[in-house]
Amino acid sequence: MRKIITIILVFTALAVYQNVHAEETSCQACHAKLNGRLSEPVTQWKNSVHHQAGISCTNCHGGDPAARSESSAHNEKTGWIGKPGPIKSVRICGNCHGNELFMKKFDPNARTDQLKNYLTSNHGINIMFKKDGKGATCVSCHGAHDVLKAMNPQSHVYPTRVVETCAKCHADKKLMAKYGISGNEVSEYKKSVHAKALYEGHDLFAPTCNDCHGNHGAVPPKAASIEDVCGLCHALDQKLFNESPHKAWKESGLRGCMECHGNHAILKPTDAMLAPGKGICLKCHETGEKALKTMNTMYSTLTGLKRKMENTKKLVDTASEKGMPMDDALLILQEARNSYIKSHTAIHKFNAAYVQQTAQGAFKEVIKAQKIAHARIAEIKKRRAFFYWFGAVIILLILLLSIKIRIMVKKKKRLP
Ligand code: HEC
Ligand code: HEC
Ligand code: HEC
Ligand code: HEC
Ligand code: HEC
Ligand code: HEC
Ligand code: HEC
Ligand code: HEC
Ligand code: HEC
Repeated sequence: MRKIITIILVFTALAVYQNVHAEETSCQACHAKLNGRLSEPVTQWKNSVHHQAGISCTNCHGGDPAARSESSAHNEKTGWIGKPGPIKSVRICGNCHGNELFMKKFDPNARTDQLKNYLTSNHGINIMFKKDGKGATCVSCHGAHDVLKAMNPQSHVYPTRVVETCAKCHADKKLMAKYGISGNEVSEYKKSVHAKALYEGHDLFAPTCNDCHGNHGAVPPKAASIEDVCGLCHALDQKLFNESPHKAWKESGLRGCMECHGNHAILKPTDAMLAPGKGICLKCHETGEKALKTMNTMYSTLTGLKRKMENTKKLVDTASEKGMPMDDALLILQEARNSYIKSHTAIHKFNAAYVQQTAQGAFKEVIKAQKIAHARIAEIKKRRAFFYWFGAVIILLILLLSIKIRIMVKKKKRLP
């Protein structure tokens, strides 16, 4: 009985192996021997997430995986699709990825909304409805054969690689001009604090193109429109903005954060943005308006605080260089630094009193650190004075001693 079971098992295993092997040999074996665009798919696919999941050539191209000759492998009767164009390829990817029952078998948490969202985006509309062929398809962003898990650092959609993926089209000014798009997005983005945080600071929370524009839909989930996108991460700035006199901007067609910070080339904000006579508020407000008084007061509060912090830091450093332990003052300055940052966030309420009130905490802390530094410097002076007096007394003693010795020597000589 056991022998029979073993034989059956071996035969089943062989049959399964033959089947897989057959599927791989017909398309793959022949294509592996061809060149360039005909063999590349095989090498790329072998490293892909699809190969791992058992998705093969025929799942996307149709055809007969068992046939040995090209003509019978590429046979229309076996559902041969061939090389799919943009529309067909979206349908092929969408057929599986939009099928919840099928996808959850591989990963119970798999999302199946990509196609649905894609159809709401300008890319989807361009490809599927306008049939213009120039928008991005699933393949433009993920590849056809070298598809990897999104979280794989080698994937075309991994945070640090997204920009080059979008740049294939969005850095092409000639192509973009047809759609009234500048084509500057990539070069502008590369100048931003966000790009700096992502590439130099290795901060994967810093936004790249898809964090603001969504992976598949027109905007990312949770953002009602692109204007709200900054608030997804800068929640406190957004909250204060919503409490400010600017909260009704949308009704007058103004676009929130972007009016002052831009969208792609977002630079590091500085106090100069509030400087009297040239601050950002002058873009919309005129001399004499309350808004400009607000701007001037916020400027003097923030720059005043900054000056005080810098001067205090210098004092603390001086004391430290002269050998005084200053850890306590440094700790207080660090706390002041946190309040200092908060007082910059506070400007988004566009209310001078609120900024002054927030800066108050930092001022108090800086004064505390300043007092410590002054006390330590006074201590150094006291010690130094003591040292000088002590030195002077010693020198005097030595002098007196040497005079005394000389007198004694002279007395000795005078003796008969
Ligand atoms: C015996 C060799 C052979 C087998 C087997 C074979 N192919 Fe091909 N395939 C070719 C050749 C040669 C070409 C190029 C034909 C041309 O340029 O006209 C090609 C072209 C293709 C193309 C590109 C078509 C285009 O329009 O550019 C795809 C896709 C393709 N094969 C997929 C498959 C799939 C899927 C299988 C298995 C079901 C398969 N092939 C089996 C030899 C083969
Ligand atoms: C996940 C779906 C998928 C799988 C699996 C897949 N392909 Fe493709 N393949 C595509 C799509 C989509 C295109 C069209 C790409 C494009 O337009 O750039 C394509 C294009 C091709 C081409 C034409 C390349 C060219 O540049 O003209 C060949 C040849 C090809 N595939 C062969 C294969 C072979 C052989 C396999 C199996 C080893 C395979 N494909 C597996 C989706 C797939
Ligand atoms: C404009 C570029 C772009 C297009 C077009 C696009 N994707 Fe994506 N896709 C992305 C990005 C970016 C991610 C997510 C990366 C991340 O999570 O960090 C992603 C993620 C995915 C994932 C992983 C699961 C998830 O939803 O996060 C799947 C599956 C996927 N896309 C399939 C598709 C399919 C199917 C299509 C076509 C209907 C498509 N994508 C079209 C850029 C694109
Ligand atoms: C025959 C079904 C099928 C087709 C067709 C198909 N996929 Fe997939 N895809 C899968 C399966 C299954 C996985 C693996 C899911 C897993 O392991 O969680 C996968 C994984 C992926 C992933 C990685 C998802 C992640 O979690 O990061 C991406 C991206 C992806 N496919 C894109 C595409 C694109 C683009 C196309 C069209 C060119 C396509 N797929 C066609 C079934 C398919
Ligand atoms: C294959 C080329 C291609 C790729 C890759 C591509 N795009 Fe596009 N994109 C286009 C084209 C073409 C349009 C204009 C479509 C139209 O208006 O019909 C467009 C439109 C857009 C728009 C809408 C702009 C507007 O106001 O109309 C946004 C946003 C966008 N793309 C972002 C992205 C992002 C983000 C990526 C990368 C994740 C990306 N695109 C990748 C070609 C591409
Ligand atoms: C911090 C968020 C953010 C990031 C990151 C970002 N964008 Fe944008 N982008 C926006 C906002 C907001 C708008 C809308 C501006 C408007 O309505 O005028 C926009 C507009 C666009 C437009 C259409 C307007 C035009 O003419 O330029 C395109 C195309 C675009 N972005 C592509 C990209 C690409 C490609 C990247 C990556 C290199 C990128 N964006 C990175 C927020 C962002
Ligand atoms: C996906 C999250 C995310 C989104 C969306 C986002 N940001 Fe950022 N932002 C960050 C991160 C992370 C940093 C870097 C923080 C740091 O280094 O202090 C940053 C930095 C900044 C800075 C510089 C702050 C400083 O103190 O130097 C400004 C200004 C800024 N973002 C404005 C915006 C605006 C305006 C938008 C919308 C157009 C936006 N951000 C969208 C995450 C985001
Ligand atoms: C993009 C245009 C724009 C910019 C830039 C702008 N504002 Fe305003 N501001 C408005 C609008 C519109 C209103 C509402 C007008 C009204 O209620 O009379 C307003 C109202 C105000 C108000 C309430 C008006 C009042 O008299 O009580 C204050 C305060 C204010 N802004 C401060 C500022 C400050 C400070 C800045 C610079 C940091 C600034 N604004 C930048 C457009 C702008
Ligand atoms: C009316 C102009 C204006 C608007 C609108 C505006 N900001 Fe600012 N923002 C500024 C100014 C001015 C500074 C810098 C003040 C300084 O450094 O003295 C700043 C600083 C910042 C900073 C760095 C300080 C901090 O808060 O950490 C971030 C981040 C920021 N803004 C994000 C946003 C976001 C997000 C929005 C939309 C909700 C927004 N800003 C709307 C003018 C504006």
